[in-house]
Amino acid sequence: MSAPRPTVYIETYGCQMNVSDSELMLGKLTALGYESVEQPDGADLILVNTCAIRDHAEQRVIGRIGELKRHMKPDTVLGVTGCMAQRLGPQLLEKAKHVSLVVGPDGYRALPTLIERARGGERSLATSFDLEEHYEDFAARRYDPVKAWIPVQRGCDYRCTYCIVPYTRGPERSRKLADVVREVERVTAEGMTEVVLLGQTVNSYSDGEHDFADLLRAVGAIDGVRRVRFTSPHPNDFSQRVVEAIADVPTVCEHVHLPMQSGSTRTLRRMLRRYTREQYFECVARLRRAVPGLALTTDIIVGFPGETDEEFEETLSAVRQVGFADAFTFIFSPRDGTPATRMPAELTVSADVASDRMQRLIALVRGIAREHNLGLLGTRYEVLVEKMAKRGADLLQTRTRDFKTVLVPGDESMIGRYLTVEITGTTGSTFIGAPVRERQPLPMAG
Ligand code: SAH
Ligand code: SF4
Ligand code: F3S
Repeated sequence: MSAPRPTVYIETYGCQMNVSDSELMLGKLTALGYESVEQPDGADLILVNTCAIRDHAEQRVIGRIGELKRHMKPDTVLGVTGCMAQRLGPQLLEKAKHVSLVVGPDGYRALPTLIERARGGERSLATSFDLEEHYEDFAARRYDPVKAWIPVQRGCDYRCTYCIVPYTRGPERSRKLADVVREVERVTAEGMTEVVLLGQTVNSYSDGEHDFADLLRAVGAIDGVRRVRFTSPHPNDFSQRVVEAIADVPTVCEHVHLPMQSGSTRTLRRMLRRYTREQYFECVARLRRAVPGLALTTDIIVGFPGETDEEFEETLSAVRQVGFADAFTFIFSPRDGTPATRMPAELTVSADVASDRMQRLIALVRGIAREHNLGLLGTRYEVLVEKMAKRGADLLQTRTRDFKTVLVPGDESMIGRYLTVEITGTTGSTFIGAPVRERQPLPMAG
């Protein structure tokens, strides 16, 4: 009888880039014979793939690492990977004695060796950046059966003053267009029809020969690709070529997540976002002119050092002016080592003021969405069935091309299919829909 396969449990925090990295690690480990399990109890290997973007995100993970101790067998190897591993490095090994691996985002190639050493009792740290690293030879093992996360760029060359990412993910680098195309061809051959191109400033993609416009055109034309999305673009990297590609390529969806961060030019300057309020509006106008029906979502930070009431009001008015379909809102969280932490103490916005601003902002965003959404009752959309909805039995979570969530009655067998639905209700943010007539999925490639 052969020995049972070792098991691996991976828990992922943070952005889609981290989800994608977890898929790469899982691909590598399953290729080496590991079996993926969904619970930490008794796993031979536990990896916590972490995020460092805000203090809250880190505190959660620190709590979780402590908790995972109870789930470990005497010989379980526990590793911490991702952005917090990169940021805290040796401190993590120092503080959590049951952790034997601390591996940053560019160190996953060494995992098999480091795991082997950990089995022999050695504790390791791998936090060097590697500008060549794209894990081209790792075959991702994907968690999502419907949409494929496709990393096209790693790292970030911007230096927004609040942001830890350039320190945790290193300098920006892009994969070769041909490598991205090959990966997308593989996922469509497996029957997936939606791809999401990932990068911190994804529209600054450049592999030396091709820009992001070339990439959208190449990926968008691959047989079997029915929806192309990308996240997150930077407002300064929307060249006319990129805007035209979004408009021209039928598979590129009518939705752009365009982080604004603030609607005040003065705040934006302190954030080193490198655009003004007006330039952000111009970018929105160019995108909207080129892409009819475009939906925009955004990220906004409140309580950035020095943000005055007037500056915050400018954020509110910008939200009204753009009419975002949705927004992720965050209270500024100081990150050690970033320039924002070196700003004069008197610029600090109190926690009370920040949370009050956050509440007002959320109320505004919800109000705008609600009003817009009520106007959509009775309209029809093509939706892709993503998964079973969390709430309510027999409800599917589906998505329109412009990124609206529509809950539709149905069962598991419909996951991955396209339907036409009529909007029958809205909770304000999500919709309820009824299938009108079902479309056949595109034939699989190959
Ligand atoms: N690369 C993306 C953002 C990645 S981080 C971009 O440039 O748009 C995701 C979001 O987290 C950011 O858009 C920002 O709104 C928020 N964020 C980043 N650092 C933060 C901090 N220190 N405090 C609060 N929010 C932060
Ligand atoms: Fe952070 Fe700015 Fe880079 Fe986005 S563009 S990852 S916010 S430094
Ligand atoms: Fe977090 Fe790192 Fe992503 S800090 S948001 S996991 S790039």
